[in-house]
Amino acid sequence: MYTHIAGTGSAVPKRILTNDDLAKMVDTSDEWIVSHTGIRERHIVAPDENASSLGTEAARKALEDAGVAPEELGLIIVTSTTPDYAIYPSTACLIQGALGAKNAAAFDMMAACPGFVYGMTMAKGFMKIDPRPVLIVSTEIMSRTVNWTDRNTCCLFGDGAGAVVLRNEERPGGLGFHLIKADGAGAMAITREGGVRTEETCRQPPGDLKMDGRAVFNFAVRSFTEIISTTLAHYRYTEKDIAWIIPHQANVRIIEAAVKRIKIPPEKFYVNIDRMANTSSASIPIALDEMARQGMLRRGDRLILAAFGAGLVYGGITVEWTK
Ligand code: ACO
Repeated sequence: MYTHIAGTGSAVPKRILTNDDLAKMVDTSDEWIVSHTGIRERHIVAPDENASSLGTEAARKALEDAGVAPEELGLIIVTSTTPDYAIYPSTACLIQGALGAKNAAAFDMMAACPGFVYGMTMAKGFMKIDPRPVLIVSTEIMSRTVNWTDRNTCCLFGDGAGAVVLRNEERPGGLGFHLIKADGAGAMAITREGGVRTEETCRQPPGDLKMDGRAVFNFAVRSFTEIISTTLAHYRYTEKDIAWIIPHQANVRIIEAAVKRIKIPPEKFYVNIDRMANTSSASIPIALDEMARQGMLRRGDRLILAAFGAGLVYGGITVEWTK
C-alpha cells in the first residue's frame, strides 16, 4: 500500500501589503527587503479571518480536488503556530466541526515551519494502521504575531493556509523517504513566549515573535543541505532524478546559499516568497497547490519538500507525484 497526495488546496487573504506600504510604517525600504529576503509583498488577514477560517477554506478545496467527502476522513492533522485558541479547543477540532468530518480524529501538531513535513510523515505512519484518507491543514496568521514596529521581523512574514488530502492506494508512488530532526540546543534562536512555564508567565500573553536572524540563517542553510544530500544519497539519485525542490519560503538568500552547496540548478527550486513572504508551516502546501493548479507537476515527477524553523526543527520528505 502506498500513500498518495489525492488533492491539494490553499487559501490566502485578499489584502496585500507591499514593501512600499511597510516603508510607511517602519524605517525600511523596498530595496532593502527585496535585496535581503526576496520578498515584495505579503497577504494579511482581515479582522474576521483566523487560522480555522483560512484552514477550512483550504481544506474544502483539497477535499473537492481529491473527490473525498468529509465523512470519509479518518484523521485531520492541523499544523499551526497561530492557533485560534492558545491551548484548547484545537484548531483541528474547529476545522473538523466546520467541515462536518464526523468520523475523523483531529489534533493540532506544533513543529513550527516544518509542521507540514512533520504532519505528512506522521500521517504516512498512521495510515499503516488506519487506511482511511487523512487531511493535513497548515494554517498561519503570522501578521498577528509580529511586532509591527520591529523592522527586523515585521517585513518577513505573511498569512495563508494550505492543505492536502492523502489516500492509500495499491499503485506505487506518493510519499517516500523522510528525514525529520530537531536541534533543541538552539531552541532560543526563535521564540514566542508565554505558556505555563512559571507562576509569572502563565498569566502573560505570548507576546511577539523574536528571532536571532543570523543564527537561524546559518541553521537553515545547514539543514537544507543535510535534507537534500541525505535524500539523494538514500535513493542514490543525482539532481537529474529530481523534478522539483519545494523549500520552506523563508528567505531567497537561504535558498541561494543552499544551491551553491548542493549544486542543484536554482530553476529546480520553486519560489513564491516574493508574493507570499514566510507563511511558516503553510508555505510548502501553498506552493504545492499553486504548482498543481498551474499544471507544473507531471505524473512521475519526484519532489523533495524541505523545511526548517523554530525549535529548532527541520525535515524533508519526498513525493512521487501521481495525480
Ligand atoms: N529594513 C532596513 N534595514 C533593516 C531591516 C529592514 N527591514 N531589518 C534589519 N535591518 C538592518 C539591521 O538593523 C542591521 O543594521 P545595523 O547594521 O545598523 O545594525 C542591518 O540591516 C543588517 O542586519 P542583519 O540582521 O545582519 O541582516 P541580514 O542580512 O542577516 O538579514 C534576515 C536579516 C533577513 C532576518 C536574515 O538574517 C534571515 O533571513 N534570517 C533567517 C530568518 C528565517 O529564516 N526565519 C525563519 C524561521 S521563522 C519561524 O520559524 C517562525
